[in-house]
Amino acid sequence: MTYITTPIFYVNAQPHLGHAYSTIVADTYSRYRRLCGDEVRFQTGTDEHGDKIVQAAEKTDVSPKEYVDQISRMFREAWPPLSIEPDNFIRTTDADHMKTVQQILQKVYDQDDIYFSEYSGHYCKGCERFLTEKELVDGKCPDHLTAPEVISEQNYFFRMSKYQQWLIDHIKENPEFITPERYRNEVLSFLKEPLEDLCISRPTSRLTWGIPLPFDDRFVTYVWFDALINYLSGLGYPDGENYSRFWKDAEHIIAKDILKPHAIYWPTMLRSMGVAPYKKLHVHGYWNVGETKMSKSLGNVVRPTEMVEEYGADTVRYFLLRDMSFGLDSGFSSESVVSRQNSDLANDLGNLFSRSLTMVMKFAKGKVPGAAEPEQIDQELKGAVIAMLAEYRQEMDNFSFNKALSAIWKVISLANKYIVENAPWELAKDTEKTDRLSTVFYYLLETLRLISLTLQPVIPTTSEKMRLALGIDQKPDLTDQATWGLLESGTVIHPPKALFPRIDKGKKKTKEQHPTQKKKKQKEAEDDNLLSFDEFKKVDLRVAEIVAAEKIKKSDRLLKLTVKAPEERTIVAGIAEFYSPEEAVGKQVIIAANLKPAKLMGVTSHGMVLAVKDKGKLHLSAVSDVVTPGSKVS
Ligand code: MSP
Repeated sequence: MTYITTPIFYVNAQPHLGHAYSTIVADTYSRYRRLCGDEVRFQTGTDEHGDKIVQAAEKTDVSPKEYVDQISRMFREAWPPLSIEPDNFIRTTDADHMKTVQQILQKVYDQDDIYFSEYSGHYCKGCERFLTEKELVDGKCPDHLTAPEVISEQNYFFRMSKYQQWLIDHIKENPEFITPERYRNEVLSFLKEPLEDLCISRPTSRLTWGIPLPFDDRFVTYVWFDALINYLSGLGYPDGENYSRFWKDAEHIIAKDILKPHAIYWPTMLRSMGVAPYKKLHVHGYWNVGETKMSKSLGNVVRPTEMVEEYGADTVRYFLLRDMSFGLDSGFSSESVVSRQNSDLANDLGNLFSRSLTMVMKFAKGKVPGAAEPEQIDQELKGAVIAMLAEYRQEMDNFSFNKALSAIWKVISLANKYIVENAPWELAKDTEKTDRLSTVFYYLLETLRLISLTLQPVIPTTSEKMRLALGIDQKPDLTDQATWGLLESGTVIHPPKALFPRIDKGKKKTKEQHPTQKKKKQKEAEDDNLLSFDEFKKVDLRVAEIVAAEKIKKSDRLLKLTVKAPEERTIVAGIAEFYSPEEAVGKQVIIAANLKPAKLMGVTSHGMVLAVKDKGKLHLSAVSDVVTPGSKVS
């Protein structure tokens, strides 16, 4: 069993990429656990009481209730376009939740763990809590960069200090209770100082938007005491079936901003209630823009919906999981998203998939062939895939999603090399090599099947596309499908569609520069002359490596090539009658790199590939050894 939760997000702001990250992690982990045969419950939701929400509602013309309904809906609707599928979406304004909070308060009050007293302290509205003197930096809250208000009032307090020693012992005895380790250490070091009791009420004279205390209606519940209980009320605590099934396997995902409420308030509250502590707390870092945390108060947010429109759900999911090392901060930039899409998804994975399947369609009648006796190169590929499966599971279990993905990408790049080294298009020319060709195809397709299986939790839509193209219709399952050799010969392969489009980085620029380019072009045409030696020297000849190739629609002659020289550029080459896209990819050729861009069949070509035509056949130019792409021809 696995019960996985995200924080419930405040409805004072619309969802941004930081919220999306925690929720994508939870979705990926729940898909992964399901793939391992586990039963999973995944919960997310919204936190709707407290000062912050009232203030946000006041800025609009609507009542707090209408306001929270609106924003909560935005959160709920933000997730399906990202292929996030929670089993439960909880709201702290749900009647069931409010009832559970009151039951728990009454229970804790009856056993004398809540008392009435006077308190004075530094209250940060952004954090919705009193900060200790130690937490202030230059008199300000380090997260919100605002000075807290000094508030003095009578309130109810939870005897948190009573459970301090128990909590220290529990963390020490359960090394995985708070992970990664740096956050466990942070909590233990915080617990070296005596813990203060927790103020758990707000007088209705100051705040009415909250859950009334069942034992004193002059007060409402402090928002954190209310919010943390969502993890239990969402399971139907105390007598719901889901509670008895899932609670013992609860794992919470949060960012480091809310470590203290989750690592200190929550376990001590549970202890007081007589409920077992959660199993694990997974703490991640921040998505930053430049040097600062992405946050609504700092006004530098990226909207998940816009990201999905621009790049698609799978690219966003892949990028977030690949670029962040769980626990550490990471920088966001659209350049890095584009680069992940172009190089990892379109080039490495997309190419491998479409090259392999196109060749099977062309040279193996579109069916999975049977493998003959493998050679060493085949065994090596198989060995690498099997090692990857083990590494993948270990890293996914550890929440090291970036490492799991990098293990898969090592196999992808090995499989791309395997194609170049085995040159199936050459084997296809020799009737005596049919067995060899079949083996190469089988090994490639089996590698692709296992790649698609491991990618399912991260990029579910693409994984499904891959599986359908490979003729697989079973539900993905790691327990019985993660072994080599399950793809049956004779299975019909479906022609591949591109998994990921390449994003043309120059596209926008080219458009914007168009008028000037046109003028320049006219002027240069006027100056046109015969080529002098000096002019010839101006031609920038370079070695370029073809990293992607595709046919241009409605043209028998043209291939659109993406080459590295060393930067990536598009070149349109009239070689389609002589080279298939999969033959072209991987070749090093010589290009003229500083030609004026020219548009051919709607595609702008930035340079020209040099080739030789001999006896009606075209041969691409080449250097005799493999060199660094971009090397100058002199
Ligand atoms: N309502 C409380 C949580 C109560 S849980 C019982 C809250 N809400 S929040 O809307 O402020 O969400 C904070 C959480 O959003 C973080 O812990 C993290 O999961 C996510 N993130 C918000 N900004 C983020 C980044 N810039 N980077 C990474 N995660 C971010 O706190």
